[in-house]
Order: sequence, then structure tokens, then C-alpha cells
Amino acid sequence: MSLLPSAYIADIARHAGQSVTLAGWVYNKTEKGKLVFIQLRDGTGIIQCVVFKKNVSEEAFAAAKSLTQESSLYVTGTVRADERAPGGFEIDVSDLRIVALTQDYPITPKEHGTEFLMAHRHLWVRSAKQHALLRIRHEVIAAAQDYLNSQGFIRFDTPILTPVAAEGTTNLFATEYFDLGTAYLAQTGQLYVEAGMMSFGKVYCFGPTFRAERSKTRRHLTEFWMIEPEMAFADQEDNMVLQEHFVSAIVQRVLERRQADLATLGRDLSKLERITPPFPRITYDEAVELINRAAQQGVTVPPEDQPLPPITWGDDFGAPHETFLAAQFDKPVFVMNYPTAAKAFYMQPVEGRPDVVHCADLLAPEGYGEIIGGSQRIHDLELLERRIREHGLNPDHYRWYLDLRRYGTVPHAGFGMGIERCTAWIAGTRHIRETIPFPRQLYRIYP
Ligand code: 4AD
Ligand code: MG
Repeated sequence: MSLLPSAYIADIARHAGQSVTLAGWVYNKTEKGKLVFIQLRDGTGIIQCVVFKKNVSEEAFAAAKSLTQESSLYVTGTVRADERAPGGFEIDVSDLRIVALTQDYPITPKEHGTEFLMAHRHLWVRSAKQHALLRIRHEVIAAAQDYLNSQGFIRFDTPILTPVAAEGTTNLFATEYFDLGTAYLAQTGQLYVEAGMMSFGKVYCFGPTFRAERSKTRRHLTEFWMIEPEMAFADQEDNMVLQEHFVSAIVQRVLERRQADLATLGRDLSKLERITPPFPRITYDEAVELINRAAQQGVTVPPEDQPLPPITWGDDFGAPHETFLAAQFDKPVFVMNYPTAAKAFYMQPVEGRPDVVHCADLLAPEGYGEIIGGSQRIHDLELLERRIREHGLNPDHYRWYLDLRRYGTVPHAGFGMGIERCTAWIAGTRHIRETIPFPRQLYRIYP
């Protein structure tokens, strides 16, 4: 025996005129005399099921009347095309069987505050907008992997428990590791994926990464998912070309396959349609000039229309700076060649400009901030050792990483894209916390 339904709402059109059995939950229910209308959701979509008293048994009609929001049930009936129905079809119910009646579902169609909804995240994920958002997340992940796979990249998984900091000692979650001392949750898989690059040429890792940052912004999670490609025999130029094709492929695929979800979220599709290579590029130097000129003119930035603060060369950009820079373009923009002192130890210095490195942050349009950080890595053994020391790190801890420069070293480059930042931008969701099923933030670890 099988408990599976005979059809799913997403492909109900294929069953037009046939009798099917659907299985799902009550999204909404209304009654009108001898009629009960059930909005049934089955995870793939929502469809109206019409229960007409004279078409079903007495028990089935009573069951239909007793249904409450989020009760689970099987519905059997004929698929009927109806132009007025949202999905183009309705079900004329012939039978109905309740699996479980729900009482007092906490999330009702009325407005709830975000705090309440976040505390009920385990239930909130059933709601239409959250459902659409998480489906877009799924598509972003699938598109990202499919694109890299199609370009000959091999997935090379990296450890989450690591003996040392990859990018410096701040922002790490620590845990005791048996008799071997302290282990840290990975902030990036990059160092390990570089070992894979030397074996396969083109690789990527994909998994959760952790940042013990005390930031409360709408762009920060303490646990987020990152996909990190790495290429051998490649420089920062090759890296950016890969990124603009990668990001465009993801956006175009979401547009193609998740139109309905984007519509549920009210996303302006024209802003996504124009995301095609190439992307504009400016240097950090130029960005600082742009910002300071605008700051002097009293330019303000959304969402609160605060004045754009000036910036000193050498400082990292704040959210208002990123928002302002991105607003100058209608595609994601690469900001290249950041100050050496502001970036990680492994980035390749620019020839003749040792104060800046071959790197770029990719800033998404519309104020969604940095979605990608990437760089060309130092491949020279001595230079890398020196930079590790200059950063106050212990070269002993990086023995294996230095080995990669000892045995057949080659110029190489790579980047990391945060899945949630990318999803927030594509879906047009202001706050990153809704782009992951269970967000982990400074003040949130429940549910
Ligand atoms: O710029 P980041 O820190 O770069 C790295 O970790 C490199 N090792 C990646 C590499 O070159 N392989 O992080 C990369 C991306 C950011 O652009 C952003 O999309 C995301 O990871 N990210 C976060 N997303 C959510 N919450 C946070 N706290 C994030 N920090 C970074
Ligand atoms: Mg970064």
C-alpha cells in the first residue's frame, strides 16, 4: 500500500478532466450554504477544492465543514478547468478524508509581528511568502551548483571543524575537541578548497560557515551557507569573468523557473532581466572618490535617507557606502583592489601597488550589499609566509597550506558567494533572516 497522493497541485493541468487524490493541508476554508470551499496546499501549490453537499457522502460533508486551518487531509475529486481559479483549475470533490484535525493554529491570516513569526519559524515556513522565498533559495542553490558543474568544476567538501582560523582569529566559534585542544567552526572553506584546486584544477565547496560577529544588521547571520569556487592557472580577471557569468546564470534560471514565486513576493522582474554579463567594475580608489564627492554634496541613502558619511582611504565600506555605490549602476558592480591592510593575508598584491590587492567585492543592486568576496591568492611561498607573520599568525599552523606553494604552485583565484545574501537580492527581501529556514543571529537561536 502507498500513502502517496495520485497527483500534485503543481502538475494538475496534466490531469484535467480526471479524478485524482490530493494530499495536503487546509490553507483556508470558507462555507456558503451547501458548499464548502477548501484552499488546499500540498507543498507544490494551492488549489481550490469545492465540496458540494449532494456530491459527497454525509460523513464527508460533515468532515469538510469541521476542517480548520492547517488540518491535514486527502481529497478525491475531478480536476476541472476554471478560468477564474488562480491556477486555472479547481477540484470538484467526490470524497474527503481527514488525517489530523488542527486546533488553534497560531499563525492566522491576520497580521503578526516579526518577533512572533520568528518565534514560530517552524510553522511560519508554511506561509505563502516564506514558502516562495525558500523555494527561490532552493533554486539559487541548484542553479549555482549546476552552473559550476556544467563548467567542469568538481565539488570538494571542506571540514567544518578546523584546528585554526582561516582568516584571522576574530569572529570564531570555538569548541573543545577531545584531547586535541580547541577546534573552530569554519568561517570559510577556502584554504582547504585550494588544496582541492591543486588536485582537480577547478573545484568548489558548498556548506555552512560560521561568523561569531556581534552585528545585528539585516545582512548578517552567524550561520550562513557559502559556495566557494577556486580555479588553478587563473588570475583576478578570470575570477571576475567567472563571477559575472555565474551570477547571471543563477538570476536567469530563477526568472525562468520561479516566476510564480517571484510574483508571490511582488518582485520587479525587469530589475532581474537585465542581469547579464559583463558587470561594471570600479577600483576601491575610484569608489572612495565617488563617495567623498557625493558626501560633500550632501547625498543621502535609503532606507532611512541618512546622509552618506565620508570615508578615509584604507577603511572598509559601511552599509550606506555599499548602498550608494550599488545605486550608481543597474547591475551588480565589482569594487576591485582594496587596501592590503583591510583584507585577508592570502591576497595577491597588485604589481607596483603593494598597498592594494587583487580582489573584488561584488555589490548587488538596490542596496542588498556584498554578495561575493573573491581574490587572487598569493602563490609565492616566501611572500605568503611573510604575510602570515605580518598578520600576527603562526606559520606553523599553516604548514599544510604553505605546502601548496611548495609543491607545484600556480597562480589561482576564487571567491565565495553567500547563498542568503544572493537569495535576499533576487527575491527582493529586505531582511536576510527569512532566506534561510532557521536563521541564527546574535539574539536568536530558537527554534
Ligand atoms: O567576503 P567573505 O568573508 O569571503 C570569504 O570568506 C572568502 N574566504 C571567500 C573565498 O574567497 N572563497 O564572505 C563571502 C560572502 C560575502 O560576500 C557574503 O555574501 C557572505 O559570504 N557573507 C555573509 N552572509 C551572511 N551573513 C554573514 N555574516 C556573512 N558574511 C559573509
Ligand atoms: Mg567580504
